[in-house]
Amino acid sequence: MKKMSLAMCLFAAIALAVSGCGGSTQQAAKDSKSEAKVLKVGTEPTFAPFEFQKKDSKEFDGFDMDLIRAVGKKMGMKVEIQNMGFDALIPALKSGNIDVAIAGMSITPDRKKAVDMSDPYYTSGLTVVVRKDDTSIKSVDDLKGKNIAVQIGTTGADRAAKVPDAKVKSYDTNSAVFLELNNKNADAVIIDAPVAAYYLNTEGKDKAKMVGDKMEAEDYGAAFKKGSKLTAEFNKALAELKKDGEYDKIYAKWFGNQK
Ligand code: ARG
Repeated sequence: MKKMSLAMCLFAAIALAVSGCGGSTQQAAKDSKSEAKVLKVGTEPTFAPFEFQKKDSKEFDGFDMDLIRAVGKKMGMKVEIQNMGFDALIPALKSGNIDVAIAGMSITPDRKKAVDMSDPYYTSGLTVVVRKDDTSIKSVDDLKGKNIAVQIGTTGADRAAKVPDAKVKSYDTNSAVFLELNNKNADAVIIDAPVAAYYLNTEGKDKAKMVGDKMEAEDYGAAFKKGSKLTAEFNKALAELKKDGEYDKIYAKWFGNQK
């Protein structure tokens, strides 16, 4: 009898040690039952004021980040945001590495073929940015044969590709795009108008200016894997945020009162 209990003790000790090793996965499985489910969010954070990382803490900040956190709250999910290349977002949705991409992503026919897009949450458009001292470029029509810098995979890149004889250079981040303009490696940038406006009010103040009219009206939407149930849940939460005034609060925080 005594021997038996010793053996059982030993067995229990081994079992404990083994479970200790696999502890983190077991804990995670337990947590997912008792705590909120995680909403895995992907973004490309060089797109202020929609998404950027705070200088010191690297915390994700911006209109999209506030919006997705508010949506996640309504959905009863825990929001976890990760940084990836803009052109990696749709592949990450398809592979299931992320549940939603929110990245100032314009709703386009091509993207709607690849992923499900939410209802529009912000109306945007493209613009041309040049160096402050430039006098030769007054609109997109003056970009023929020029060097244009754009972010890879964006609608700005698509628009630049349509400019006759232009040399288009694509970069992973918008920080690199503006740097190249600044360094005179590019004559112009094609980028979303609200992002250009924010840049010209901050870092780009003495360096650059916007020229011409706003081009191609575009709506931003969140993107989901085709067939995801989360699209409808996002839309429902967005509608509630619009109704209860929370959306307006977030909007005013980043854009003031201009609509
Ligand atoms: N609106 C543009 C597009 O959909 C640019 C988006 C870039 N977003 C970003 N987070 N870098 O292509």
